[in-house]
Amino acid sequence: METSKYFPSVETLDEGYQKTFKNCDELLPTLPQTKGWWFGQLFQYHGFWISGFCIRGSMLNHDHFKPRSTDIVVATSPKCGTTWLRALVFSIINRASFDFSDHPLRKANPQDLVPFFEKIIHKDGSTSFVDGIPSPRLLSTHLPYSLFPTRMTDDTSACRFVYIYRDPKDVFVSKWHFASKLRPKELPPLSLEETFDLFCKGVSHYGPFWDHVLGYWKASVESPKKVLFLKYEDVKKEPLGCVRKVAEFLGVPFTPEEENKEIVEQIVKLCSFESMSNQDVNKLDKRYQQRPVSNSDFFRKGEVGDWVNHLSPQMAEKLDQITEEKLQDTGFNFH
Ligand code: A3P
Repeated sequence: METSKYFPSVETLDEGYQKTFKNCDELLPTLPQTKGWWFGQLFQYHGFWISGFCIRGSMLNHDHFKPRSTDIVVATSPKCGTTWLRALVFSIINRASFDFSDHPLRKANPQDLVPFFEKIIHKDGSTSFVDGIPSPRLLSTHLPYSLFPTRMTDDTSACRFVYIYRDPKDVFVSKWHFASKLRPKELPPLSLEETFDLFCKGVSHYGPFWDHVLGYWKASVESPKKVLFLKYEDVKKEPLGCVRKVAEFLGVPFTPEEENKEIVEQIVKLCSFESMSNQDVNKLDKRYQQRPVSNSDFFRKGEVGDWVNHLSPQMAEKLDQITEEKLQDTGFNFH
């Protein structure tokens, strides 16, 4: 597994971290494996297809991360609106600190303001980097809820998760576009049909998609103060209401004075697809080795229902059917 770029050699780490690294290195070859849609291998870990690097991140979290009661985790299955939710939550909790005309979101992509948990937990080879982030820490993850340790998920810990999901047909289309862009040019292009079959079988980054959503949905039902469960389509339709809901959930509701100053409206405007995708920093199309993704890759159409332009009626029907089967008897539906 890749090591050198991101952290010092394993021998220089404390014994506890060395043990986690060793456990991970020993575990990976024993897990079912498949090729990722763009690069690298995916391993089936506790029922989910995850890269080796992120599995190690999850193990570091499990063994060493010290959660704080003020931690906020933006959680998503990829392509469900991570970028948008990162921006919204960042601007909600920091609304008193910045002027909207000169806001950090005008100069940095949301992923630079809300770090990716299972990635930065490797930084420096230990949790020291995450430990050093001042409270309230705002982190982002694609890890399924079941992979978080109980010290983060039980009701005695106050850290909170804000989750967003989306119609699986739009998720698939968005993921296919993203993967096609990122896929190394020397590999054959990703066929929509083959990739569709993989998605249906649950074989995609952090898939199966349905299991990911269901894990957070169940948690939101069992622990509504811990997990807020949002739907991309609802945020599109009612952005003001959703922003107020997130603020209340995080314990920082908007005051009458803030309402008078139209702070909610300003947040919604700043974080809208039109505004975000037009910031110069998000137009950057620069890839480099450590992050082969560029800021512009996170903005495509930002619409509900774009699947009609890509999926045949049969494909749509198949996905809807799988969704229905997966959700049968769960008490949850996507509508
Ligand atoms: P599309 O590919 O359907 O356009 P993620 O951030 O989880 O990677 O998800 C990316 C998807 O969210 C893309 O969907 C992207 O265009 C959309 N998106 C990004 N920023 C958004 C915003 N501010 N509002 C709505 N959608 C947004």
